[in-house]
Amino acid sequence: MQIYIDSADINDIKRAAEVNLCDGVTTNPTLAAKAGKDYNQVLKEICSIIKGPVSAETISPNADGMVKEGVAFSKIAKNIIIKVPMTSEGMKACQRLTKQGIKVNVTLCFSANQALLAAKSGAFIISPFVGRLDDVGEVGMDLIKDIRLIYDNYDFKTQILVASVRNTNHVLEAAKIGADIATVPYSVFEQLFKHSLTDAGIKKFLEDWEKVPKKK
Ligand code: E4P
Repeated sequence: MQIYIDSADINDIKRAAEVNLCDGVTTNPTLAAKAGKDYNQVLKEICSIIKGPVSAETISPNADGMVKEGVAFSKIAKNIIIKVPMTSEGMKACQRLTKQGIKVNVTLCFSANQALLAAKSGAFIISPFVGRLDDVGEVGMDLIKDIRLIYDNYDFKTQILVASVRNTNHVLEAAKIGADIATVPYSVFEQLFKHSLTDAGIKKFLEDWEKVPKKK
C-alpha cells in the first residue's frame, strides 16, 4: 500500500521525504489555508521534493471552471493530479480532464455508488473520507471494503485512496482491506514507526551492551 502525506506544510513533507517512505501528497483548501502561503507556490515546492503524485484541489462549482483550474495546475509539474469533488459537474470535469491525459482524484466520496460513478468517469484516484464518516457515527472502513469489492468485481483500475485518516488503526485497516493508498497527516505518519516495546527493547539492549566486556 502506498502512503501519502496529507499536508501542505513543506516541513512535514520534507521530514516525510527524508525517510523515503512518502509515495505522494494530498492537499486541499483547508490544508492550503493552514500553510498560509500562495497555493501554486506551495504545490511547486511540494513537487520539487516529492516525485510521486501530488493532488491539487479545484474550487470552481462547475465543470468548465474545474477543467480550467485543472489544466492550469497541471502545468506546475508533471506529477500534479487534479482533485474534483464528487458531484455531477465534477464527473463531467473528470471525464474531460482524463481525455486530455490529466489524472484526476475524485474527492469528498462518502458512498460506494459515488465511487462507482467516479471509476466509470475514468478517475485515477477515488478519495473516500473515512474519518468524517466515523465522525457522524458511520463506520468509515466499511465504505472502503465495499469500494474494493465493487472495483474488483469489474476490474476498475481507479486507485482507492483512504482519506480523512485520523489514526494508525485506519492505516492498518486500509492495508488489510487492500486499499491502494492511505493519505495520512504527518502526526499519524510519525506514529506508524512507533511501538512502546521497540523503545523498551532498544533501552534494554543499550543497558546490556554496557555490561558486555570490551577489549581495552
Ligand atoms: C485528502 O485528500 C482529504 O482532503 C483529507 O484527508 C481530508 O481530511 P479531514 O477530514 O481530516 O479534513
